[in-house]
Amino acid sequence: MIVCSCNVLSDHDVRATMHSEGGPARNPGEVHRCLGCSRKCGRCMHTIKNIMNEALCGAAERRAGS
Ligand code: FES
Repeated sequence: MIVCSCNVLSDHDVRATMHSEGGPARNPGEVHRCLGCSRKCGRCMHTIKNIMNEALCGAAERRAGS
């Protein structure tokens, strides 16, 4: 699913930045930087933040369950 129409970034792209070699992206601005682009209109920032939060909560639940 495309979450940033200005830069054509998908939810998969966002999740991938949380496992990047240079260290995980910690906020939507870092997601854009990791993917070689920058924020333009800003409409995607809330959605990117939600995807990041869901990924972090999922990782924490998996750790707690193991
Ligand atoms: S939709 Fe992401 S910067 Fe515009």
